[in-house]
Amino acid sequence: MIVLKKAKDLRHYLDVCKEKNQTIGFVPTMGALHDGHISLLKSAKAGNNVCVCSIFVNPAQFNDRKDFEKYPVTLEEDIYKLEINACDILFLPSLEEIYPDGMNIKKHYDLGYLETILEGEYRPGHFQGVCMVVEKLLSIVQPADLYLGQKDYQQCMVIKRLVELMGSGGSIHMVICPILREKDGLAMSSRNLRLNNEQRAKAPGLYESLAFLKQNLNKGSLADLKQEAIKLLQQKGFKPDYVEIANAETLRPINEWDARSNIIALAAAWLNDVRLIDNMVLI
Ligand code: PAJ
Repeated sequence: MIVLKKAKDLRHYLDVCKEKNQTIGFVPTMGALHDGHISLLKSAKAGNNVCVCSIFVNPAQFNDRKDFEKYPVTLEEDIYKLEINACDILFLPSLEEIYPDGMNIKKHYDLGYLETILEGEYRPGHFQGVCMVVEKLLSIVQPADLYLGQKDYQQCMVIKRLVELMGSGGSIHMVICPILREKDGLAMSSRNLRLNNEQRAKAPGLYESLAFLKQNLNKGSLADLKQEAIKLLQQKGFKPDYVEIANAETLRPINEWDARSNIIALAAAWLNDVRLIDNMVLI
């Protein structure tokens, strides 16, 4: 695996690949890699000649400073995992490399309704920060295929919108990979490293509350069901931000279900100072 820290060096390398008609698959990450990240890498390897993974903990997308400061960094292990899974290139830029003019000169991305709900509502500015870094990374890597995880369902929709706003809709193909879970159902996440033993034991409760929604789903009003899922989370020791059932294409909340439209359950909840998110396609 080649490790590059400068955008110009990466671009030079990838230009040579393009001259040889090699396709590029890109997996952007913030590191603290787990098997979920590696599943994206494997898909990127399978679908492309060259696979680029980036690790950059993007300060611009952390609406909570403490969350940024406590974000796990495990670079040595990350490099090892990428090596043994045959990643071709690791892009490891510095803050200055990504934001040479600082983070304050922000342009506004018109994300419309998407930014006003769920993660957008509870993490103001988060998706603007995601767009800032992903636009920069995409302009450097210029991949054929971009690999993202369904774990961050709303982020996938935001990045789809970003790619349209960038006018790259035709040239970048997005591949959404399924959520990888631990044996007890907990969705793999870098933030799981921050859970102590007691919190880790409670953590599958988030998945269980989504599974509860799936098992008890019925045509008609969903209001009581959502309330029950919130209560369930509270009983399991969580402090929920939201539990929502939404249209899977638009993310508009569904209160009355016609038993036909595709819907998804999404939840975010705290275990002490660790915030976890998860989702489950219901039908
Ligand atoms: P990060 O949280 O490191 O996630 C990188 C990619 O891995 C994302 O596309 C995410 O959805 C995917 N992923 C995370 N957990 C997963 C799981 N359990 N199963 C499958 N895929 C999973 O998401 C980000 O970084 C950042 O916001 C980023 C897009 C890199 C921009 O900074």
